[in-house]
Formats: sequence, structure tokens, C-alpha cells
Amino acid sequence: MPTMSDEQKIRIYVLNGPNLNLLGIRAPEIYGTGTLGDIQNMMEEKAEELGAELEFYQSNHEGQLIDWIHESRTDANGIIINAGAYTHTSIALRDAIEAVELPTFEVHLSDIHAREEYRKKSFISEVAVKMICGLGAKGYSLALEQLVAHCRASDT
Ligand code: DQA
Repeated sequence: MPTMSDEQKIRIYVLNGPNLNLLGIRAPEIYGTGTLGDIQNMMEEKAEELGAELEFYQSNHEGQLIDWIHESRTDANGIIINAGAYTHTSIALRDAIEAVELPTFEVHLSDIHAREEYRKKSFISEVAVKMICGLGAKGYSLALEQLVAHCRASDT
């Protein structure tokens, strides 16, 4: 994992899982009208302010997400992940996050605790520092702020 000083950029992988490429047209009453591109732009701006740099990815394929998590081990200081529906099913993603030992923040646009029963279980939260959900796109921004602060605080 790269080390950092106050002037050094903190590198964060932002990983988005299945169907999040359809944000803006997919169930806007649940996920809002903004696109994933809007979220990326907002996060790039916030990253600039915070002295961080992002690798921002989306995939509909579990194995691709796992490959990016493995890549982050030697290329990043932390991970922000919205694993979409894999949140509720993927022990493989959970294990990948555990294996790379990077601080990981989990984000969901919707409040997964207030929806269907099958969305209440998250395998990711077992290995995440924190979950932020139900705040829409703002949740990504908050996760970035808090993860950068977490990385700076733990680099002693
Ligand atoms: C989601 C919640 C998941 O249950 C769902 O499958 C998604 C999006 C969210 O951001 O609210 O694809 O992760």
C-alpha cells in the first residue's frame, strides 16, 4: 500500500457494481435522476479539494470487481464500493476486500434497511469500516471525505 504525507495524494478506488451504469434511468424514484457520470464528476471535484486521486470504475461482472479489488492492494490506500445487488449475495467480494486489508467504505444510494427483506443483509459490511446508505449521491461524497480522513489518521 502506498504511504502518504500531508502533501501526498491519497489514492482511492471507487468501485460500482451491476446496474449502476443505468443510474438516471433506473428506478429514479429510488436512485434519483443523476447519472453515474454525475457522481464521478462530483467525486473528482471533492477528491481535488481533499488532495486525493480516484480510480473510478463500474462493472456488471463480479470477477472484474474482484480483479480491481486485488489491483487496489498495491495501487491504493482505500476503497469505496457500491456493490449493487452483489452486496447481498457475494461472499467472493467480501473475501476479496478482507484479503487486501485496505480500509473500505460501503455506499448505497438507497436505504437498504428500509427496503425488501433480501436487501437488509450485506456481506460487504462485515469487512467495511463503515456503511453509508440512504443519502443518494451525497453518500459517495461523505464516504470520500471520511475515508481520506481515516487514511490520514491511520498513517502514523
Ligand atoms: C444499491 C442497493 C442494492 O440493493 C441494489 O441492488 C442496487 C443499488 C444502492 O445503491 O442503493 O443495485 O446498492
